[in-house]
Amino acid sequence: MYKKTISLLIFISTLIYCTENAKLLGIFHYPGKSQYMSGVALMKILAERGHDVTVVSPIGEKNAPENYRDVVLPEVFEAAKRFMKNYFEYKVHPYVQTYVIGTVSFSLLNCTLSHPKLQQLIKTEKFDLVILQQFYGDALTYIPYVLDIPYLFYSPMGASYITNPSIGNPTFPSYVPDLFLRYTTDMSFFQRLDNTIIFIINSFIRYFVILPYHDRIVKESFPNAPDIQVYNQRASIILLNGDVSINDPVPKVPGMIDIGGFHIKPPGSLPRDLEDIMNTARSGVIYFSMGSNLRSVDMPKHILASLMNVFSKLNQTILWKWENDELEGKPDNVVIRKWLPQNDILAHKKMKLFITHAGLHSIQETVYHGVPCLTIPVFIDQLSNAKRAVNAGYAELIYMEEITEERLSPLIEVLLNNNNYTAAAKKRSSIMRDRPLSPADTASFWVNYAIRHKGAEHLRVASVNLTWCQYLLLDIVAFIFLCFLGIFMVLRKLTISLIKFRNCKIKKKLE
Ligand SMILES: *[C@@H]1O[C@H](CO)[C@@H](O)[C@H](O)[C@H]1NC(C)=O
Ligand SMILES: *[C@@H]1O[C@H](CO)[C@@H](O)[C@H](O)[C@H]1NC(C)=O
Ligand SMILES: *[C@@H]1O[C@H](CO)[C@@H](O)[C@H](O)[C@H]1NC(C)=O
Repeated sequence: MYKKTISLLIFISTLIYCTENAKLLGIFHYPGKSQYMSGVALMKILAERGHDVTVVSPIGEKNAPENYRDVVLPEVFEAAKRFMKNYFEYKVHPYVQTYVIGTVSFSLLNCTLSHPKLQQLIKTEKFDLVILQQFYGDALTYIPYVLDIPYLFYSPMGASYITNPSIGNPTFPSYVPDLFLRYTTDMSFFQRLDNTIIFIINSFIRYFVILPYHDRIVKESFPNAPDIQVYNQRASIILLNGDVSINDPVPKVPGMIDIGGFHIKPPGSLPRDLEDIMNTARSGVIYFSMGSNLRSVDMPKHILASLMNVFSKLNQTILWKWENDELEGKPDNVVIRKWLPQNDILAHKKMKLFITHAGLHSIQETVYHGVPCLTIPVFIDQLSNAKRAVNAGYAELIYMEEITEERLSPLIEVLLNNNNYTAAAKKRSSIMRDRPLSPADTASFWVNYAIRHKGAEHLRVASVNLTWCQYLLLDIVAFIFLCFLGIFMVLRKLTISLIKFRNCKIKKKLE
């Protein structure tokens, strides 16, 4: 009896194992640290859940879990290097942002697709599903097409103009602000005008610059490839690094799945020294980090001086992610470390305030743990992340170039002393945690779903099959206009003839 139960259990577990264990190929061409880490976090979760994971990327992982294999393309990283610089000096008008990031992707994609390691991999191995980073990565969709296997997208951000066209989701400039603008959903007339202009510019850049170039890149590496329109809109599912607790509620087609916060692990214990520092902090702890793309050592000198002056007058202990060994003029209540376990620090009961660049993962973690924050957004989506955080009531915002002692001090003061910020952060936290399935389980479920249903073609909306004229109903509008014009012409003719006829009659009568 006992033996029978055990063999039955083994049988059932192998059944589960068989359905849930697939060979996944992740391709992440973009070496921006936060975009890369975000994609890798997803692939690691899938490996931990039993999938056999292969990741093609420019970087590679040191602490890869079992069944996780790296195929590193260092040449892609080299190609990206000439675009990397001090991001604090990165100043690009939002109108040309798509053009700039889009064109950076060209050499990365070219290098990825033509790379012998990738070419070899797809010739010699079989996979069940491909996971592609959707960050200006349309050319990559040729890989699942040529392998004839399903794929899904992973977007390191929420729904935006970058993700929408590839899955047929509408973008409404009337109330959905662009990722690169500092607007909320509640826009004034001129903000909507600005938002519409950027939408039109982005559409033109996508259809007339980015897609044709991606088409060229693919055809160079794969001479038999058809035109890009044939294969670049075949995805039915896109996993979005977004959540309603943080992102604006916007329309999403059924294959757009929010998994924002999936990377957040249950907090662990802190290293001994940090635990002591936090526990003994007299008035709590302020945590300061500018994330992984930006380095606080690159901040302008006068701004560093203002920050330290303000910090030195606080009663709180400041934990600062500082990328050097030394910080000249460091006040006594400031503790610097090259790396800090952000998630565990934010979870600590002594945590009072997070000073952040408003990168998406940082905002997700601060909301998850209900910690108010002071945002210093610098570029890309950080501006809109920060605006939404302020709007939700758990954050204040200051731009880097505005930082002075006089401006910074009262902001930190109010964030520490007014409980409304904490209350708003806790409210958002409860929204984020209130869901039927954890974000990581949700991601895992949809990956399995895509495998079971061979790409889940039944979720694909028909808009991807329409030309933009049909999609915007321009042909119908033109038709209706012509009909009205026709009716107007006929009526006009009739009226003229009638008047002529009457005039004739009157004339005759008079004669
Ligand atoms: C792709 O890279 C190769 C080799 O570096 C280069 O010769 C080619 O012009 C590039 N193609 C495109 C479309 O940029
Ligand atoms: C710091 O603590 C001291 C003593 O508790 C208190 O008098 C002072 O007002 C505090 N300073 C600030 C900025 O909160
Ligand atoms: C906190 O919010 C409440 C309700 O919105 C408001 O009445 C109160 O004045 C706020 N408190 C402070 C200190 O801002």
